Amino acid sequence: MGSVLSSLLSGVDGSVVVITVLLAVLAPLLLRSNKGGKKEETKKIDANQTQDEAKEGAKDYRRTAAKERTQQVRRESKVFKLDSNGEGLDEVYILHGGMSGNCADFAEELGKNIHATGKVSPTTVLSLEQFYEDGMTMKSLARKNAVCILIVATYTGGTPPPTAQAFFDYLEDSTHTKTELAGLRFAVVGLGHKDYATNYNVFGRYVDKRMAMLGAKRVYTRGEDDEAQLGEGFRVWQKAFLSMLERAGFKKVAGAKSANAGSNGGSGRVKIGELQTEEEKKVVIEDPEESDDESAEESDDDLDDLEDLGLEGEDGSGEAKEMVTESLRKNLTKQGYKIIGSHSGVKLCRWTKAMLRGRGGCYKHTFYGISSFQCMEMTPSLACANKCVFCWRHHKNPVGREWRWKADDPKMLIDGAIEQHRGMMKQMKGVPGVKKDRYEESMNVKHCALSLVGEPIIYPHINEFVGYLHEKNISSFLVTNAQFPELITALPPVTQLYVSIDASNEEDLKRIDRPLFTDFWQRFLDSIEALGKTGQRTVFRLTLVKGWNMDELDGYAALVKHGNPCMIEVKGVTYCGGKKPVIGMKEVPWHDEVIRFCSELAKLLGDEYEIASEHAHSCCVLLARKDFKINGEWYTWIDFDKFAQLEREGKPFDTSDYLAKTPYWAVYRGLGVDGDGGFDPAEVHMKRDGSIVESGC
Ligand SMILES: Cc1cc2nc3c(=O)[nH]c(=O)nc-3n(C[C@H](O)[C@H](O)[C@H](O)COP(=O)(O)O)c2cc1C
Ligand code: SF4
Repeated sequence: MGSVLSSLLSGVDGSVVVITVLLAVLAPLLLRSNKGGKKEETKKIDANQTQDEAKEGAKDYRRTAAKERTQQVRRESKVFKLDSNGEGLDEVYILHGGMSGNCADFAEELGKNIHATGKVSPTTVLSLEQFYEDGMTMKSLARKNAVCILIVATYTGGTPPPTAQAFFDYLEDSTHTKTELAGLRFAVVGLGHKDYATNYNVFGRYVDKRMAMLGAKRVYTRGEDDEAQLGEGFRVWQKAFLSMLERAGFKKVAGAKSANAGSNGGSGRVKIGELQTEEEKKVVIEDPEESDDESAEESDDDLDDLEDLGLEGEDGSGEAKEMVTESLRKNLTKQGYKIIGSHSGVKLCRWTKAMLRGRGGCYKHTFYGISSFQCMEMTPSLACANKCVFCWRHHKNPVGREWRWKADDPKMLIDGAIEQHRGMMKQMKGVPGVKKDRYEESMNVKHCALSLVGEPIIYPHINEFVGYLHEKNISSFLVTNAQFPELITALPPVTQLYVSIDASNEEDLKRIDRPLFTDFWQRFLDSIEALGKTGQRTVFRLTLVKGWNMDELDGYAALVKHGNPCMIEVKGVTYCGGKKPVIGMKEVPWHDEVIRFCSELAKLLGDEYEIASEHAHSCCVLLARKDFKINGEWYTWIDFDKFAQLEREGKPFDTSDYLAKTPYWAVYRGLGVDGDGGFDPAEVHMKRDGSIVESGC
C-alpha cells in the first residue's frame, strides 16, 4: 500500500500502534460484562510486519485488481428522507467500499436504521465507486458540513478493494493540507477477517486515521467487523452509534433550516458530533505519536482491546460460537442448501436429479461407477481456509485457519443430512420422467460426496463422521484443499481421497486460492506428500481455468511425482454465473483443450499415467496410474460393496482389494472418436441448450 498508509500504520523506531479502548466506558454501551475478571491486554501490532506485508500486498493487488474488479458489488444508491414535516439534524452519507456485498449490506441496514430514528434527513447510501462516478467528492461533502460514514473492507495483502481505489488515491494525495476536509464529520467501520493477522482491517484503520489527518472531525469511534463473526462487530458499533443519535431526544430542531434543502443548518442546530457523551469520547484510538508511558500503564489494568469487542457471547461466557449465523443461514437456504446443525450443509446435485430421470450420471459415474441418483452431496464444514477465485459460494461462507466453532455430533449430522436429502428427493416424486424404481432406490443413500463447499477435514470429528458413513454402507469421496497435512495423515481410510491442486507454483496458487495461511505453499507441498503416504486410493483434482493455471505443465508433473496419486482428475472450471463473475465464459476451457492438457501431462509423466476415461459433458478427463490397467484393461471403477465389507472386517487392506473393471463405454474412446464422450449409453443424453452446465462436484 502507498506511502501515507505505510507511515500511518508503522511506528517510528519500532514503536507500536496501540489501540486502546476504555472498558469501563464501553461496558454500558455494549451491554456486556467481564465476568471472568481476566486482565485485559493492550493490543500491539507489529508495525514493520504490517508495512512489509502491505507492500507485498500492493504488488499482489495490482496483479489481481483487474480481475477482482469484475466481482464488485454495484448497488443502487438509496436516499432515505423524512416526511415533509420532518427536519433532520444533519445530512448523512453512508459510503461503502467492498467487493462481495458485506459492506453494502451493512450500509443499507445502517441507512434504514438512521432514518428510523427520525433525526436525520436525508440519509444517502451509495458505493464509493458510484460516489466518484457521480462527480461527488469528499471536499463537496465537507462544504455541506455533512456527516460521512465510511464502511470499507480490506482485501488481499491488506489493500483497499478495487471499488475504493479512487477514494484511496484521494486519501494518498500528499498535496492535501491539514484543513482539506475541515467541516466534514466522519465515522469509519472497517470490515476484515482476523485470520489475516497483521493485515486485519488495515484499510479501515488507514481510512480512519487519514480522514482525521485531513481535518475531518471524527464523530464516532471506529468500528470493526471480523468476518469470522460477520455482523457482530458492526451491530455492536451500530447500536452504540444509534443510541447516540437517539439521545438527541427531539425530532424538530428549533431554528434549523431544512436539511432536505441542502442547508448547513442554522443557529440552535445540534451537530451529531456534539451528541457523543464525554464518556464516549474517552473511547480513544491512539496514534503512536500520542501514546506515552502513562497511557500504556493505564491500559494494562483498565483497557480493553478494540479487536476483541463483540466477539464473546452477551453473557461473556466465551463459549464457542455457532459457525452459521442467522444471516448466513438465510443466504444459504436461499441458494438451495439445507443446513444441518450449526456448520454443515447438504444440497441436491443436478446429476442426482438427472439420473433419477434416466438422463445420465455425473463424471464420477463414468470414472468410478457411482450411482448418481443415490449420491448425497454434503459438507460437514461450510468454512474453508481459502477464498478460491472459482468458488461457487462467492465467498459468503466463513473462513478460518482452524476450527473455532461449536462442533456438532457426527451421527446427528449424517442422520440429519440423509433426512434432508430424502426430503429433497421426495419433491422429485411425480416430476415427469422420474423412474419409479430409481426413485425408490434413491431413498437408500449409497455415496456421500464430501466436496460441496468448505474444508471437511477441519471438522474436529471427521474421523468418527467418516466411520459412521461406512457403518451405514455409504461410500466417502472426500476432497481437501491441501492446507492441513497433519489432518490428512490422521484421516482413516476413505473410499477415495482427493486433494485439490489448483495451481502448479506458489505465485499462481496464491492468486487463485487466496489462502489465509502465509505458509500456504509449504502446507500444500506437505499435504501432497502426506497424501502419497496414506496408502489410500488417492486423486489429484485439477480445475483448469484458462489464462490462470493451464501453463507450467512441468510444475504439475513435479507435483504428481511428489504425491504419486492413483488418479488425476482434470476438469474445466465450471462457470458459476453471477452478475459480474471473476471467472467468465472465456476462462472456461473447451473439452478438447482439457484433453490436450492431459495428453501433454501424460507425456511428461513418462510411462506412469495414461488417459483412462472422459466425461465430455462435464469437460472432465481422467488420467490413471498404469497399475490400474490390468492385462490391458482399465480397473478405475470401485467395488463399493467390497469396500464396505473390508471396512467392516477392520483388517488392513489396500486399493487393489476393491477394484472393479471399467465398462467399455466409460473407457477413453471406448465408443470410438465419434462416441458420446463417456456418457453412459443406457441413459438418454439431453444435449446442452446454451444454458449453464453444472458439471458435478
Ligand atoms: C480475496 C480476499 C482477501 C482478503 N484479504 C483480507 C485482508 O488482507 N485483511 C482482512 O482483514 N480481511 C481480508 N479479507 C476479508 C474481507 O475484508 C471480508 O470478507 C469483508 O467482510 C468483505 O467485505 P465485502 O463483502 O464488502 O467485500 C479478504 C477477503 C477476500 C475474499
Ligand atoms: S456430481 Fe458429485 S454430488 Fe453430484 S452425483 Fe456426482 S458425485 Fe454426487
